[in-house]
Amino acid sequence: MPEMIRVEGLQKTFRVMERRPGLRGAVLNLFAPRHRMVQAVNAVSFSLQAGELVGYLGPNGAGKSTTIKVLTGLLVPTAGEVQVNGVVPWKVRERYVRQIGAVFGYRSTLWWDLPVIDSLELLQPMYDIPPARFRSNLAEFSRLLDLEPFINTPVRSLSLGQRMRADICAALLHEPHLLFLDEPTIGLDVVAKEHIRQFVSHVNRQRGVTVLLTTHDLSDVERLCERVMILDLGRLLYDGSLAGLNDAFESFWSLKVDFAEDYADVNLPGLPAPRREGRQAVYAFDHRELSSAELIRRLLERFAIADLEVRRPPLEETIRRIYQEKLLVDGERGQAV
Ligand SMILES: Nc1ncnc2c1ncn2[C@@H]1O[C@H](COP(=O)(O)OP(=O)(O)O)[C@@H](O)[C@H]1O
Ligand SMILES: [Mg+2]
Repeated sequence: MPEMIRVEGLQKTFRVMERRPGLRGAVLNLFAPRHRMVQAVNAVSFSLQAGELVGYLGPNGAGKSTTIKVLTGLLVPTAGEVQVNGVVPWKVRERYVRQIGAVFGYRSTLWWDLPVIDSLELLQPMYDIPPARFRSNLAEFSRLLDLEPFINTPVRSLSLGQRMRADICAALLHEPHLLFLDEPTIGLDVVAKEHIRQFVSHVNRQRGVTVLLTTHDLSDVERLCERVMILDLGRLLYDGSLAGLNDAFESFWSLKVDFAEDYADVNLPGLPAPRREGRQAVYAFDHRELSSAELIRRLLERFAIADLEVRRPPLEETIRRIYQEKLLVDGERGQAV
């Protein structure tokens, strides 16, 4: 698989004005402005192979959108090297926009006052799409995204979910090899989210479109991506498989046990005392040191047990811990970066 995106040592620093409060502050801001530097993206390196669908994850202000803007040629980085499909995005912007599709969740690229269909039709001459290709793409995307019910409605009257579907269609009509999606499901209801996920998955699988998707919605990633990159405060904290993320970060599992009888003491040597409620107890254990099978065996030796359930921590919890603890891993595919 050829390399589609290569980012090395990417850094983007913004100079922002420091706003001092109050009347005195307002005067100072005007006559003696003070600036400070915000490192939106800091020493970020990664690469994407053609055909990958990668989730770029991080809390608000992590630097996700800034990265996408650099990759789409909208921003020039402060330092670092970027090659996308063999070119430097911001240097050949005109030519480059024909090779990529981009959707930014918070703004539409469609004409606000035009019916969706007119807006989409305008893209044919704009991108010089062969008419037959244009027709068949439009028919396919419109069917998959279910655009028909609102295709004659002006963009400004669409719901957010409808607008997002129209925008994603618009981003793909010229058959780009690469699709950048910045928070495509933000603010959408569950049904609209699912619609968009299915479509993104379809273009990735059926058309081999390489997709880089930013989101702070973990269910997007769980549903779509095998590989995730996690960014916080401009730094890449993790790059690896979703499965590896769970394994690498979350070593503590829990075992919920329903005892068949009342026991006064259900402590096990070498383990923290379980949380108890009636005949139920929850043991926390580090699965790298003690397998769940071994733990169950030890319990069965001592107690009559009615039911057992091993619980792995949900991904949400894992990622929250990464954010909190800034852990770095050297996992199987996940790498300290
Ligand atoms: N044009 C800009 N001018 C100044 N600061 C900016 C600008 N764009 C982004 N930032 C700052 O850079 C950081 C990263 O922002 P952004 O890339 O939008 O994060 P995310 O998309 O992950 O929420 C934030 O602290 C944000 O305030
Ligand atoms: Mg953003």
